[in-house]
Amino acid sequence: MTIIAPSILSMDFTDTKSQIEQLNNSSAKWMHFDVMDGHFVPNLTFGPDILKAMKRSSQLLLDVHVMIEDPEKYADIFIDAGAEVYTFHYEVFNNDEQCLALCKKIQAKGCKAGLSIKPKTEVDKIKKLISHFDLILVMSVEPGFGGQSFDENAPQRIAKIKRIIEENQSNTLIEVDGGINEVTSKLCVDVGADVLVAGSYIFKQNIKEAIESLL
Ligand code: DX5
Ligand code: ZN
Repeated sequence: MTIIAPSILSMDFTDTKSQIEQLNNSSAKWMHFDVMDGHFVPNLTFGPDILKAMKRSSQLLLDVHVMIEDPEKYADIFIDAGAEVYTFHYEVFNNDEQCLALCKKIQAKGCKAGLSIKPKTEVDKIKKLISHFDLILVMSVEPGFGGQSFDENAPQRIAKIKRIIEENQSNTLIEVDGGINEVTSKLCVDVGADVLVAGSYIFKQNIKEAIESLL
């Protein structure tokens, strides 16, 4: 069963309470929370206090995607604030040992550990890491902003990761993030994506109906 993770980056922030209610009453199971530091990506977004506020009103699992230069420093802070998945970028370290050390630290806190790759990072670079993580997040846009168009190479990257997961017989989930709509969602699910992140597609129309159309 595909998991829909609405990205609150595209939410109308003058009306958060009603939109969180709509998410609680929809088929979405996760809420995707994009943390940006103005360094790893040019944009700035939310900190742990906003996550805590979401935790109080949301019934969805909190899926935190950190696009920050120091994911190690903030792991405990976001997990203590309510993160149930904490996903950081491979490109921050470019090194297997450092990625594995942070993976273990996250899992030791009882949180799922995710590893993300940008569109231009070769899947082969993370080959040995995949089965250690609970989730691999394939970026289908350059991280930083909502509303960009879907990278057409993403499905073949997802398919390759899926093959590695099957070879290793691991339970790692594949999540895809960026440019997801009712057409691109199918392309990703067909090749093995388990979790679909969608921001602008969901929040620019009827939230419940948009979520249904992705399933
Ligand atoms: C981009 C973020 C995404 C973003 C997706 O860096 O990681 O989660 O919100 O937005 P859409 O669905 O509008 O492409
Ligand atoms: Zn994201």
